Amino acid sequence: MTILYKELATKGVQGLTPYLPGKPIDELEREMGITGSVKLASNENPLGPSGAVQKELVKEISGLHLYPDGSAHKLRHRLAQEHTLDVDQITLGNGSNDVLELIARAFLTDQSSAVYSEYAFAVYPIVVQAIGAQANIAKAYAVNHDSMPYGHDLDAILKSVDSNTKVIFLANPNNPTGTWIEPAALHRFLSEVDKKIIVVLDEAYFEYMPECLKPDSVKWLTEFSNLVITRTFSKIHALAGLRVGYALSNSEIADLLNRVRQPFNVNTMAQVAACAALDDQQHVAQSIVVNTQGLKQLMIGFDELGLSYIPSIGNFISVDMKQMAAPIYNALLREGVIVRPVANYGLPNHLRITVGNQQQNERVLLALDTVLNESLNENEHD
Ligand SMILES: Cc1ncc(COP(=O)(O)O)c(C=O)c1O
Repeated sequence: MTILYKELATKGVQGLTPYLPGKPIDELEREMGITGSVKLASNENPLGPSGAVQKELVKEISGLHLYPDGSAHKLRHRLAQEHTLDVDQITLGNGSNDVLELIARAFLTDQSSAVYSEYAFAVYPIVVQAIGAQANIAKAYAVNHDSMPYGHDLDAILKSVDSNTKVIFLANPNNPTGTWIEPAALHRFLSEVDKKIIVVLDEAYFEYMPECLKPDSVKWLTEFSNLVITRTFSKIHALAGLRVGYALSNSEIADLLNRVRQPFNVNTMAQVAACAALDDQQHVAQSIVVNTQGLKQLMIGFDELGLSYIPSIGNFISVDMKQMAAPIYNALLREGVIVRPVANYGLPNHLRITVGNQQQNERVLLALDTVLNESLNENEHD
């Protein structure tokens, strides 16, 4: 008898499309038999982890036979100090993806709905679908919108709320569009949402935002009891490989999230590295400088190539290839350059490119020039 295990899985899981990560460098080099490739596909920090973090990690190796501190006492206290909050307002995750899932598990059922925008971060549909909850997807601003093409339309998001809505996900800035929400508009939105609905404000790229666009979101926690802010050490702190992120919320919500959290979801190395990363603000400042310069370098390069892009304030930018982007993506791989196709986000003509260091940016621009010329020549010969 053949057993169809898919039929035994929950309805939500049956319908899931797994998350597609950026292609690892090792995999590309193995497949192509090349070396010296560049990965600008997962919004990682080109500076790598700070020297201070690396030193602290080495000290920790000899204690790895012991389980991590399940309550992550030091890191949670350090974060509480950082954000001037109580320790019991902090929930740690194995990356902020983990926290997003904890929120879905704590608040959604197959009877409820969650709202997020078109083009929003890919993990929202996954965590919602895994539970079997309904996804109400709000239309984003149109491509020709005056100020924020492809951006989250807060009015459309409000209109997508129904009587079963338990969670709203907002990414500010959003990935893969790099679009943002003005602080005043965000504050207005929060005051309009029913306090029974959890609003998840995903601030994975917060530190990259220009000061004038940063909302006072942490201060707003006292005003909006339903607000949950998520942050990560994967981006500006350059610790994507260690997996550590966190949520800030009122203590009652944090208590609920901590009930579904695996006891050792943040490992010893990640806890130590995160504390050291928070202490190294010079590395954060340097990362901002590298990103600002790199974003400018890429935009100038795209202009020269005649390519338009979605204005971004993150450490990545999505560029319009004016044709299906998949063949361009594959041709770039052959040049040893890994970027990110975003057709799965409904953007089949765009490629998302992470801001690298100066040489990496030069390399991607050069490879794009080569590949686009090749594709032009092929089309002329067709
Ligand atoms: C908007 C957004 N939120 C959350 C994450 C999750 O990051 P991590 O799980 O590494 O903290 C990402 C990663 O790319 C992201 O782009």
